[in-house]
Amino acid sequence: MVKPLIIAIDGYSACGKSTLAKQIAKKLGYVFIDSGAMYRAATLYFLEHQVNIKNDADVQNALHEINITFQNIDGLNTTFLNGKNVEEEIRSLIVSEFVSEVSSISAVRRKMVALQRDMVGKYGIVMDGRDIGTVVFPNADIKFFVNADPMVRAQRRYHEILSKNQKADLHEIISNLAHRDKIDSWFKNNRH
Ligand code: DC
Repeated sequence: MVKPLIIAIDGYSACGKSTLAKQIAKKLGYVFIDSGAMYRAATLYFLEHQVNIKNDADVQNALHEINITFQNIDGLNTTFLNGKNVEEEIRSLIVSEFVSEVSSISAVRRKMVALQRDMVGKYGIVMDGRDIGTVVFPNADIKFFVNADPMVRAQRRYHEILSKNQKADLHEIISNLAHRDKIDSWFKNNRH
């Protein structure tokens, strides 16, 4: 029997990592896991429950309450937070604005990385996200790093939001991406 592979796709946000990962997973019959969706779902929980991210105990308590799963609905990978379909809500601008801050909290990262490692079973998986090949699965069988022009990235996110019948402002998206790049790069360079 052929050993199922772990395929890691890293890169900045809105570069097409998920699109690439989904296509590879479909082609190989592998499970696709969108790790960014997991950080977004945690952020949605923090926003909905007004968790004070400066308070370690509040963050820990919130993390105990968070359960994130994925289901394939009509061929689409769909994110569930505590049993509720949150696929649309986690793509909203408000979540995008806070997700970098929430994902820079060490306790949040530890929980997400543990969940991600637990998702590896007997099936091959394709996981995308900025730390998958370096932190989550440093021994992944195949690793990609994806990048794209900032304007192309902003347009991708713009059309993604519009296609979900939500309001989108290209300038807001450009500044949101630049802001997140800054936080995400700082965090990448200072990760322990
Ligand atoms: O890929 P995305 O835009 O859906 O990711 C949302 C945020 O989640 C991104 O700004 C940083 C964070 N993230 C992370 O820190 N580590 C990952 N493996 C995936 C995403």
